[in-house]
Amino acid sequence: MNAIHPEVDYRELDSIIVEQYRADRENLIMMLQAIQNRYNYLPRPALAYLSEKLAMPFSKIFGVGTFYSTFSLEPRGRNIVSICLGTACHVRGGERIKERIEAVIENTAADAQQGLRFSVEPVRCIGCCSLGPVVKINEDIHSRITADEVETILEKYE
Ligand code: FES
Repeated sequence: MNAIHPEVDYRELDSIIVEQYRADRENLIMMLQAIQNRYNYLPRPALAYLSEKLAMPFSKIFGVGTFYSTFSLEPRGRNIVSICLGTACHVRGGERIKERIEAVIENTAADAQQGLRFSVEPVRCIGCCSLGPVVKINEDIHSRITADEVETILEKYE
C-alpha cells in the first residue's frame, strides 16, 4: 500500500479503477481521463496507486500520461486559458492579449484565497483564424477580443 497522500482520495480512486473500469488495463486511458477529470491533472500518488492496482509498471503509466497532450502531470488551475499565438492571431495582436491576460492573472494569483484559478496554455491554432485574436477559456471561445476586454472576460471565471 502506498503512503497516504492528502491530495488523493483512495476510495474515490477505487471507485474509478475498480468499480467503473474493473481494474482492466485495456481501460487505462479512460481511467487516466477520469482521474484527470477529478483532479484537473494526474497526481503522481494517483498514478502510483493505479500502477499497483493494475499490476503495471509506474513508468508505463507515467509514459502514457506524458504521451498524450490532453493529460497534465502538473497541477492546473480551475480554468484553462488557451491563448492562440498562431500566425493569424499573432498579426491581429495575440501577443498583446497574452501579456494582458498574464498581467491580470498575476494580480489574481496574489490572492492566495483564490487558489489556483487559471492556467495559461499558449496554443498554435484553435481553428477559427478569421475571428482572431482568439482565446479559449475551458470550452468557451472568445473571438476578436481586445486587451481592454480581458479583465471583464476573466472575471466571469471563478
Ligand atoms: S491562428 Fe488563431 S485560431 Fe488560427
